[in-house]
Amino acid sequence: MSELLGGSPVRLAPMASFTNAPFRRVAVRCGSGFTTNEEIDAEALLAGNAWAGESARTELDDGVVAMQLLGNSAETLVPAALRLVEAGADIVDINMGCPVPKIVQRGKGAALMRDVSATARILSALRRAVDVPLTIKIRGGWDECQPNAVEVARMAQDVGVDAITVHPRTRAQRFGGRAPWDVIAEVVAAVGIPVTGNGDVTSLAEARRMMAATGCRSVMVGRAALGRPWLFDSAYDGLDRAGQAAYEERVIAEHLDLIEACFPPKAALLQMKKHLAQYGAGRSEARIRRAELFAQSTAGALRTTFVRQRTAPPSGGWPPPG
Ligand SMILES: Cc1cc2nc3c(=O)[nH]c(=O)nc-3n(C[C@H](O)[C@H](O)[C@H](O)COP(=O)(O)O)c2cc1C
Repeated sequence: MSELLGGSPVRLAPMASFTNAPFRRVAVRCGSGFTTNEEIDAEALLAGNAWAGESARTELDDGVVAMQLLGNSAETLVPAALRLVEAGADIVDINMGCPVPKIVQRGKGAALMRDVSATARILSALRRAVDVPLTIKIRGGWDECQPNAVEVARMAQDVGVDAITVHPRTRAQRFGGRAPWDVIAEVVAAVGIPVTGNGDVTSLAEARRMMAATGCRSVMVGRAALGRPWLFDSAYDGLDRAGQAAYEERVIAEHLDLIEACFPPKAALLQMKKHLAQYGAGRSEARIRRAELFAQSTAGALRTTFVRQRTAPPSGGWPPPG
């Protein structure tokens, strides 16, 4: 595992419907360390679900890639993990943090933190079955009554898990409030395996602050990297405005090309819309711009609309007359 952690310690976090192959490649080219795929439901993968299959592709990943699974039993997680390894996964990561009701109701995601003994059996079975590094991504616990990140981390280390990512909010907190970084420090102090910290990091400087404050070896950046993958590049901040704009144009164009090359047309169009809305977020009239992007029905019209939006004056008068 240590060799795999050799790249940049600041990495793109897994995000469902965003961190598929094109965005992973773009982030790595901007300077992210190895990336983790969006969560793939083990049952959906085994049942031959089309998107799960698309999502499991690794041919665009230049270097190390972690593939993340959602599941609630060794019976589904083990064969799904083996399939991902066969498809090129260098690391298998188990999602133990997803807070979405329809996921946790089925005992997946953050629900795996509730019954530590049952989860230990699942992780042991995975450990025996896969010969690549096995990692987990956890939350601070289920809720404030069960803040058991340290207990879960110790259990994971005992059954042979190679590394742990901690998003320290509990499942009950979802994304509310500040991420309590002290929970990351508690996990670091409790285990000897590498710990990746996560939560509310928006820049390389902040990632360094998290590492210094908690002792974590590496940091995952999620929401702040949507529409801003250049945050992984320390050179970006040193560029003047024109240089930054040129850098952004190049990254966005490459990203769109990769999406079109990678996915069937309908899926590609939706992916382009989602990411272009992120690239346009934070600008004036972002909601109107987003609605206009989502109204487009071809990739060509979408690209033209986005370019027009980017070159429009920054405030007032959107949409431009005519
Ligand atoms: C849209 C979205 C999708 C996410 N999907 C996943 C996922 O598939 N797997 C996962 O482990 N975490 C997922 N997360 C959680 C992030 O990886 C991360 O833990 C969380 O956003 C906190 O980090 P941040 O403050 O840097 O965004 C998702 C978050 C967002 C916003």
